Amino acid sequence: MEFHVYDNARAACEAAGALIMAQITRKGDSVLGLATGSTPIPAYEKLVGWHKEGILSFEHVRTFNLDEYVGIDYANPLSYHAFMEEHLFSKVNLKRKNIHLPDGHSATECQAYDRMIYEAGGIDLQLLGIGRNGHIGFNEPGKEFVYGTHIVTLAESTIEANARFFKSPDEVPRQAVSMGIGTIMSARCVVLVATGKEKADAVYNMIHGPITPEVPCSILQLHPCCVVLTDREAAGRMEA
Ligand code: PGA
Repeated sequence: MEFHVYDNARAACEAAGALIMAQITRKGDSVLGLATGSTPIPAYEKLVGWHKEGILSFEHVRTFNLDEYVGIDYANPLSYHAFMEEHLFSKVNLKRKNIHLPDGHSATECQAYDRMIYEAGGIDLQLLGIGRNGHIGFNEPGKEFVYGTHIVTLAESTIEANARFFKSPDEVPRQAVSMGIGTIMSARCVVLVATGKEKADAVYNMIHGPITPEVPCSILQLHPCCVVLTDREAAGRMEA
């Protein structure tokens, strides 16, 4: 695992943008696994900026998002479909047919999503945030790692963390559809960004804790190409 600490959150996220830029420059038809949440926004801003400057083209890039809430209208600005439109898809030259988000609500649709990823040749670079509870995508702490894309019941701590985007915690959807741990681990390279002091325990446990489904991100210790980018606060327990 490669671990880099930056002075501030924006720098850590922009470094993730630089890795995505390098990936697309090296392989124009890269398959990207994309993440939502507050963390990746500066990475998307950098990518949009490079696209506007004419030094980055998404013409042949294919994308697969990690997750989406269940039971939310995709026109709702809080859906991950809307998030991606706002921060990336509407601002670069990605082809509509190359954009994918999980939107299935049945096991068959989840399997179809994994099949689409497989048929695209697998994910070259998977961008990840991390939950305060160590979740990646919406793979919440549990008794086992779930391999493929699946429907998830959100942990109370995730509902609390995401309530900041909604008018009240009651409005946060209770379920989501998420790529599984196997889908994430199959990516050729993983870039995880963690910022803020509330992520410090998750970062420490990811790197130094036992590999356990109680801390889903801990499985990344076994990934052959995993780059972790943090600010000083998220690395707080690493530097102690
Ligand atoms: P955040 O979410 O970037 O909004 O903190 C990350 C996550 O829950 O995976």
